[in-house]
Amino acid sequence: MAPQAGVGGAAPRGEAGRAARARPYTLRVESSPHYFTPRPSGPESRRAITVELAGRRVEVTTADGIFCPDRLDLGTSVLLRTTPDPPERGELLDLGCGWGPIAMTMALCSPRARVWGVDVNERALGLLADNAAAHGLDRIVAARPQDVPADLLFDEIWSNPPIRIGKPALHELLTTWLPRLVPGGTAYLVVQRNLGADSLAVWLRGNLPPQFTVVKEASAKGFRVLRVHRTLAPDDGVPA
Ligand SMILES: C[S@@+](CC[C@H](N)C(=O)[O-])C[C@H]1O[C@@H](n2cnc3c(N)ncnc32)[C@H](O)[C@@H]1O
Repeated sequence: MAPQAGVGGAAPRGEAGRAARARPYTLRVESSPHYFTPRPSGPESRRAITVELAGRRVEVTTADGIFCPDRLDLGTSVLLRTTPDPPERGELLDLGCGWGPIAMTMALCSPRARVWGVDVNERALGLLADNAAAHGLDRIVAARPQDVPADLLFDEIWSNPPIRIGKPALHELLTTWLPRLVPGGTAYLVVQRNLGADSLAVWLRGNLPPQFTVVKEASAKGFRVLRVHRTLAPDDGVPA
């Protein structure tokens, strides 16, 4: 399902855009049960697991039918270990939040920020809402894409994006949400290197508006963390 909210896909620009379109890249998508449907079939089978988030041991509830329910995903843990603390206040986004390890970390690190955990999987959203409530993180909003106000921009975005949805849907997802960074805002995306992280960086450079830069922030355990930054240039044609 494509997100309903947002400013729409960004137009490819310039030489880099033409080059990226001319050289299709491979994004390897492994088969697995679909955790990215709105209402997963089968029983929830809720259970408690203990994970480390923002330097503390935290018990959370997970369930079947969502992404990586039995542990902190390795890519997510690379993102959380290598990304600088988010801004102390403002609007923060965890794009594809699952049960909430990234959203909860942002909320624990940024005591005055509002954190949007966005996912298409309503079971995952229910778990994030319960996990946030259990830890007093009432500044977390668990929301479907279409429930996020369309004019809201984000000071920072963190994401372990859903590579398994396939390249066209992933591209649409990223070109919908990344342009919703405020001028000066930054996004961090973790992507497995052998699932196409470097090629995705090239594609983003060619297909985001020109005021967005994409660099490799970190590399660990077979994952890349990509840093997408929107410069402060005025009148950049993207809503401010
Ligand atoms: C790789 S998982 C990461 C989950 C969680 N952030 C974590 O680190 O454990 C990606 C998530 O993106 C969600 N997703 C898939 N398509 C989406 C879409 N169009 N909009 C928002 N989230 C989506 C999936 O349901 C899944 O929960």
